[in-house]
Amino acid sequence: MTSPITTERHDDVLVIISNNPPVNALGAAVRQGLEAGIKQGLADDSIKAIVIRCDGRTFFAGADITEFGKPMQEPALPTLVDMIEASDKPVVAAIHGTALGGGCEVTLGCHYRIAVPSAKIGTPEVKLGLLPGAGGTQRLPRLAGVPLALELTAKGDPIPAKKALEAGLIDRLAGEDRLAADAIAFGRASEKTAAPDPAAIEAFKKENARRFRGFDAPAANIACVEAATRLPFAEGIAFERQEFMKLMMGVQSAAQRHIFFAERQAARIDGVPADTRLRDIKRVGVIGAGTMGGGISMNFLSAGIPVTIVEMQQDALERGTGVIRKNYEASAAKGRLKPEQVEAAMGALTPTLDLTKLADCDLIIEAVYENMDVKKELFGKLDTIAKPGAILASNTSYLNVDEIAASTSRPEDVLGMHFFSPANVMKLLEVVRGAKTAPDVLATVMALAKTIKKVAVVAGVCHGFIGNRMLMPRQVEAMKLLMEGATPEQVDRVHVEFGMPMGPFQMSDLAGVDIGWHRDPTRIESIRDALAAEGRWGQKKQAGFYDYDEKRNPSPSARVAEIIAEFRKKTGAVQHEVTDQEIVERTLYPMVNEGALILEEGMAQRASDIDVVWIYGYGWPVYRGGPMFWADTEGLKKIVAGLEKHGFAVATLLKDKAESGGRFTS
Ligand code: 3HC
Repeated sequence: MTSPITTERHDDVLVIISNNPPVNALGAAVRQGLEAGIKQGLADDSIKAIVIRCDGRTFFAGADITEFGKPMQEPALPTLVDMIEASDKPVVAAIHGTALGGGCEVTLGCHYRIAVPSAKIGTPEVKLGLLPGAGGTQRLPRLAGVPLALELTAKGDPIPAKKALEAGLIDRLAGEDRLAADAIAFGRASEKTAAPDPAAIEAFKKENARRFRGFDAPAANIACVEAATRLPFAEGIAFERQEFMKLMMGVQSAAQRHIFFAERQAARIDGVPADTRLRDIKRVGVIGAGTMGGGISMNFLSAGIPVTIVEMQQDALERGTGVIRKNYEASAAKGRLKPEQVEAAMGALTPTLDLTKLADCDLIIEAVYENMDVKKELFGKLDTIAKPGAILASNTSYLNVDEIAASTSRPEDVLGMHFFSPANVMKLLEVVRGAKTAPDVLATVMALAKTIKKVAVVAGVCHGFIGNRMLMPRQVEAMKLLMEGATPEQVDRVHVEFGMPMGPFQMSDLAGVDIGWHRDPTRIESIRDALAAEGRWGQKKQAGFYDYDEKRNPSPSARVAEIIAEFRKKTGAVQHEVTDQEIVERTLYPMVNEGALILEEGMAQRASDIDVVWIYGYGWPVYRGGPMFWADTEGLKKIVAGLEKHGFAVATLLKDKAESGGRFTS
């Protein structure tokens, strides 16, 4: 096998070049090639300096994650980085694209770092439940100080070259097109040391406590950086190794690595070749300027795709476009956008009351009231307005996309695009494949999702698709638990402790207790009906399953406790002490069961897609890897036993896998 590493001589400088597409991951062959290259440079007296650079779209994007958990092949990355650092000839890292993780650590072993202005540098290991395990936690604080080392390691977001230059993390910017030449003109630098600064560490921990809640890796990253402020280098490295191995063997990192690959796998569509010719999407139409329609429009505007937005009434149209502007201006006030970017986005928005103005759109997304008759009538009209080849999408969250498609003469151009609220923020997009949806329509929308920075998952046509369908059994059981003795506070606490951003009742209050309510205050058949009839519609009314103050801080409600007590009496539900474990078994296990049914019916392409839906659409804790990965770690036998104990009908697929010792995820 030819090595991904080659060398070039430029007089007295040896340039070592890696070419390991797609992202120059530091797999065994790359490490071996780098080691050989360094040895070659050291052995040759006529060589005065060594440059390491990469071909292709990026500098080393990290260790090769696919090698994790397999036997290690020499040289290990830490050994290689030490060898580079020990070289008595100066070694220069020439950075373009993204120098991430192990890639960043290679640069830290080098004596100089030069980067093009567009480059980014960082240590995202924490996002995989890990820490930089090739000396990064010890070299970063020494080179760039404790505060930046904490930011980079414990949060994991890369920084642009300019910021890295200011922080001393790189030494010089190269011309955007002159990296190779500029890098060759370089010499050796002195080592900087970090001032011990435990105060900064405590403040950082406090500031980010919420963000790090439940995760093991951020604390381990912080502990390593802290060690760098008090231990000699070699001891710091030993501590880093020990912490790295602990994380690597743990379930959280396995979960986070699972999601890294699951997210990328989700983009692949069964039965549709990767090279399918896509339709051109130059202008998008959005029908409805409410919260959903406005949020959906912002995704395209932010990506530079012009949007025509349609409403029925002038005041609703003005309100909707006003909200879009306000959202952009709020981002600008926080420094996330420049004023000219706000104007560019708003300039690409065409508000209208006239549906026929959608005639020149390549994709039209309907985001109107959730009612089948309304949607069918609208799609019938769109059929007469939209140009041939335009894609017609519905943002429905439950309704039958095939039925909607049948109201047009071109069902092959119709599909579902289910955005999650707030649509300009939430990363998930469920793309609902109708029975007749054409492969190129599906492929176009999946590719477009990437352009607008969404994580898209293909779902089949079924009630609630993947996410909301799995939510239903959870909500039903949560209500039953109230009747049998649990409180909303207890059920929600168990979910929050599990790592969810909120529990089922907090979610109802946020979304609106009145959603789906029949609107007849005299018809009270459930606790929800009783709350809705009293105007306890959730946070927007400062009363729902909880009472809220003006700042929307919740507190347990005496009135809700009364309503629950009345219902318990009325229905004669048997009371018992509900344990936290019972709440887990009765609200989370049925979600796994529903996930198994979804797979059985072919409504999701793969178990990992279900995990992606729950992580990106509902805030399932990524360190638990999504419901299907979590079920695998819990043990499928245990899940089946729990479901049976509580009288659920267990899905055949789940039962079979439990019996055969199988798993949902790999
Ligand atoms: N190892 C193995 N494969 C990797 C990889 C890695 N570190 N990084 C990316 N890939 C693969 C992806 O799985 C994908 O494969 P596919 O085409 O078969 O699905 C392909 O490379 C392209 O990746 P993306 O689709 O993500 O490409 P983008 O251009 O959108 O993004 C990127 C590029 C920013 C580099 C992004 O891939 C990324 O963030 N990669 C992970 C970086 C990372 O986490 N590095 C740390 C690794 S752990 C480590 O270094 C430990 C060390 O401290 C000891």
